[in-house]
Amino acid sequence: MSAPSLDRPTAPDEKALQDQFDATLAADHRIEPRDWMPEGYRKTLIRQVAQHAHSEIIGMQPEGDWLLAAPSLRRKAVLLAKVQDEAGHGLYLYSAAETLGADRADLTDKLIEGTQKYSSIFNYPTLTYADVGVIGWLVDGAAICNQVPLCRSSYGPYARAMIRVCKEESFHQRQGYELLMTMMRGTDEQRAMVQDAVDRWWWPSLMMFGPPDDDSPNTAQSMAWGIKRHTNDELRQRFVDMSVPQAEVLGVTLPDPELCYDAATGHHRFGQLDWDEFKRVIAGDGPMNAVRIARRRAARDDNAWVVEAATAYAEKHGA
Ligand code: 3HC
Repeated sequence: MSAPSLDRPTAPDEKALQDQFDATLAADHRIEPRDWMPEGYRKTLIRQVAQHAHSEIIGMQPEGDWLLAAPSLRRKAVLLAKVQDEAGHGLYLYSAAETLGADRADLTDKLIEGTQKYSSIFNYPTLTYADVGVIGWLVDGAAICNQVPLCRSSYGPYARAMIRVCKEESFHQRQGYELLMTMMRGTDEQRAMVQDAVDRWWWPSLMMFGPPDDDSPNTAQSMAWGIKRHTNDELRQRFVDMSVPQAEVLGVTLPDPELCYDAATGHHRFGQLDWDEFKRVIAGDGPMNAVRIARRRAARDDNAWVVEAATAYAEKHGA
């Protein structure tokens, strides 16, 4: 047997690498891009981070539709800042996916071809300006509930991106709630608009947390890897408990006759979600899926020349 070469260290075997990975997770330390990771861990992260990035970018559309019809200069400035934040979130998240070896253009292609998903919530239309407020209150509120625990996700770049994203989401949630408060202090017509928007967005907001735990193929493994810190049902329950008192202060009724406080558990019980609707929407058959993807496709194609020019410029200067 020849002695190992001194200038070419032998690669640690797979078991040693796996042990080191497991020890990092057990110590609640972060996995960083340079670290070895199991292929399944990498793939799961790319799937989740890409889906999250796509949601931020597609999520610019429903509210972006109201930018030219905002009721005042102040409301327009607030909404514009919010929509721009979503673009920024998408960019941090695509960068996080790149640290895992994914290619940003390829991820966008997969979104457009329908082989990667984005959040179900953005497949519903925004019919009135009250929808802007309700998206801030409920949709961004649900996003915060889901994403604050992701600040402790086991993958360093994802966890760190989430810290800034969550701070900005808190501003989004507050601007929505403040807009709704203002409308609720307005006319009967405005109050009716708010209630109508709450009726349409409540159930889809609960679906954002994903399928029930016993129908969620990824949760157990993602929790074991520390990618997710809570199950879909735990976070959904937390969101319901958080939203009920906020609805009371606002003076709106949440559209669920079964919603009630259970003193024994300290939580609110709520009715059945329409999981058939959820499945239809994530399969591409929601009210706005076709519009959302057609716009994203047009943005990619119309702006291809910008990417081409920027790439040529970077190559020239890199050389
Ligand atoms: N919309 C679309 N697809 C969904 C979904 C939803 N609301 N919930 C679950 N799914 C998909 C999953 O992606 C998975 O499909 P895939 O295997 O083809 O990827 C399938 O349904 C089964 O669901 P699982 O529960 O097994 O999947 P996960 O373990 O990935 O859990 C999740 C789903 C809770 C959404 C998780 O991926 C997660 O926490 N993601 C990060 C947060 C995120 O993506 N948020 C998007 C919200 S929008 C947003 O942040 C924008 C802000 O401005 C409002």
